Amino acid sequence: MSDIAKPQGVLATTVAGIPFQNPVLLAAGTAAYGREINGVIDLEALGGIVTKAVSVESRAGAPAPRVADFPGGMINAIGLANPGVDAVRRDHLPWLAQLSRAQVLVNVVGRVVEDFSEVVTQLDSAQGFAGYELNVSCPNTRAGGLEFGADPAALTTLIQRCRAATSRPLFVKLSPTLPDIALMAKCAVDAGADGLSLVNTLPGLVIDLDTRRPALGFGTGGTSGPGLRPVGVLATWKVRKAVAVPIIGIGGVSSGEDVLQYMLAGASLVAVGTAALANPRTPERIVHELTQWCAKHHIASLAALSGTLEWPQ
Ligand SMILES: Cc1cc2nc3c(=O)[nH]c(=O)nc-3n(C[C@H](O)[C@H](O)[C@H](O)COP(=O)(O)O)c2cc1C
Repeated sequence: MSDIAKPQGVLATTVAGIPFQNPVLLAAGTAAYGREINGVIDLEALGGIVTKAVSVESRAGAPAPRVADFPGGMINAIGLANPGVDAVRRDHLPWLAQLSRAQVLVNVVGRVVEDFSEVVTQLDSAQGFAGYELNVSCPNTRAGGLEFGADPAALTTLIQRCRAATSRPLFVKLSPTLPDIALMAKCAVDAGADGLSLVNTLPGLVIDLDTRRPALGFGTGGTSGPGLRPVGVLATWKVRKAVAVPIIGIGGVSSGEDVLQYMLAGASLVAVGTAALANPRTPERIVHELTQWCAKHHIASLAALSGTLEWPQ
């Protein structure tokens, strides 16, 4: 919960006013609402969890198969399946409120701008989470499918409305396909975002050669895993130079060294998705590796490394 005592230690960090015991989060959509993976994973050993998307209405999601592997990672089209804001507030937030060390960010999704502020308004008086992550890398049905994050006017209105509905921190999650991600990050910050989540998945297509059809029921999907890491690290560095707010680095993190890549580029936190799906113990291992790395390199505070990449002149 957000009001936990300020954690101490080499990995501890306070980001957008939220105290985290370490910088390792579970990425949105890969750990449901926490309860489903509790027992398989020790959530309380992590910095926190970003929930699966929450929309105003429940969503059935995309047809199966919803995920497929390829040698560089995986591709998914879940279709942002979720039980809707009422059910999340009633069935999931009370459980998440019992967490005493891991922080919770609620991932929000919508089809039109008003959907986002509606979810925030409906959740905001509840306990069990510290802030929001707005998934603006999804299509705005009113704008012919153009994603919110690619449209400065829609992005500004969306964030302003959410800002008016809550005083909790708002992280805005952007797509790696944006032609100028730093520009859109600046637009988000100007509209009231407290932080950026970088990056969402990359659109992709995997073909099943036996059927000559797409491997996913939906056809296309979002590419994640190791191949996305350099893309996410570059996005983090570009955005770090453009804005001063904290960044959650996302994409292909599977080791302590991967976290360090994101941190040097300017991230304050990281989120782990695909690697945690492959092995739920990965995030705990990453925390351990970070602790060992700091001891070996006599680092007193990992947070101090953020943004210390030295760029060749
Ligand atoms: C199965 C699956 C479901 C996802 N669902 C969401 C979601 O609901 N909301 C969201 O913002 N991102 C979602 N993502 C994107 C991840 O949060 C993350 O940005 C992406 O997978 C890159 O990180 P990774 O390479 O560590 O997996 C999903 C990713 C996967 C693989």
